[in-house]
This record gives sequence, C-alpha cells and structure tokens, in this order.
Amino acid sequence: MYNAMNEIDEVLFTRDDIAKRVAELGAEITCDYEGKDLIVVGILKGAGVFMSDLIREINSPIRIDFMSVSSYGNSTVSSGIVRITNDLHQDIQGCSVLIVEDIIDTGNTLHYLREYLKNRGAEDVKICALLDKPSRRQVEVPVEYVGFEVEDKFIIGYGIDYAEKYRNLPFIGTLKQSAD
Ligand code: IMP
Ligand code: MG
Repeated sequence: MYNAMNEIDEVLFTRDDIAKRVAELGAEITCDYEGKDLIVVGILKGAGVFMSDLIREINSPIRIDFMSVSSYGNSTVSSGIVRITNDLHQDIQGCSVLIVEDIIDTGNTLHYLREYLKNRGAEDVKICALLDKPSRRQVEVPVEYVGFEVEDKFIIGYGIDYAEKYRNLPFIGTLKQSAD
C-alpha cells in the first residue's frame, strides 16, 4: 500500500503544529481587521489548503476570492516576471485586501501582486504567507503575517507541491532526494 512517509526526508510541521498556528493567525487577523471591509485573496493552487483552514479561523464577515499566477521560465528558478492566469472576480475598490500565499521565496510574486492589487484600487494590501524563506529574498516585501520561517530547503505538503504532487499531505516536510 502507498505510504507517503517513504518519500519524506523530514516532517517540519505536523498537522497539529499547523492547526495551532493557523488558529493564532486567524485570531490575529480577526482582531486587526475589526470593522474593515476585508477581502481575503488566496493564490492558487499552493495556498488553497492553507486558505480554506485560515478563513474558518477568521471570525468576521469577510469576502473571499482566488487568483492564479505563474512565473515565466524554469519553475525552480524564479524569473521575476509574473503572469496572472486567473484574475479576481470582485471589485476591490476601497477594500482592505489580504493576500494569502503558500511560500514567500525570492519575493517576486508577492511584490508584483501587492502592486497589482493596489493599482486596482484597494485601500490597503497586506500579506499572509504560511511559510517564509527569508534567506532567499531578492526583492524586499513586507509580510505582515507569517506562519513559520523555514530554511532554504525544498518544501512540500499542505497545499505545496513538487511537480504537482504532495499537495494533499496533511503535514509540511521535505522530500528525500530520490523521491522524484
Ligand atoms: P517567489 O516569487 O520566488 O517568492 O515564489 C514563490 C513561489 O515559489 C511560491 O508561491 C511557490 O509556488 C514556489 N516555491 C518557492 N519555494 C518552494 C518550495 O520549497 N516548494 C514548493 N514551491 C516553492
Ligand atoms: Mg505559489
């Protein structure tokens, strides 16, 4: 029978670690946006799992939406050029926008998205990233909410993929070198 653990090098954050941190982030966001017209924008596909848990920990009348982006070129080396493949479906004029992303790595994707959403008329745009790899940053991007900081390792699980696989793992970990 299939056992994903055979392909995992290290579990960095368990299902429980993640649930606890997501609940803390949700409580913080609930408090910080009290009385604001908040729209939470998840970046697909990587942030899909995190987003679905996070919004259920936010106790206020938010709206949600999703966007898809892709960067040109080799998928493991960020080119810095971001293309929107699925745009927002709601007007964000005058709203507070919270972008929910899986990982901030070089910072190129979130730098681009923050500017893009500001230009669409959002009153303020903030970022919530499940994971932050600060050692890899090429562009300075303020990230208001971070789940966990991680070292420069290739991460999978809880929505995050390697070649489109492993998104369904309930924990966050690293792959064994041979597992491709
Ligand atoms: P950035 O534009 O370099 O910050 O790219 C961030 C995107 O790269 C994330 O949304 C992920 O899709 C992808 N990414 C960065 N690091 C990893 C990783 O360790 N595993 C899987 N995807 C990653
Ligand atoms: Mg992504």
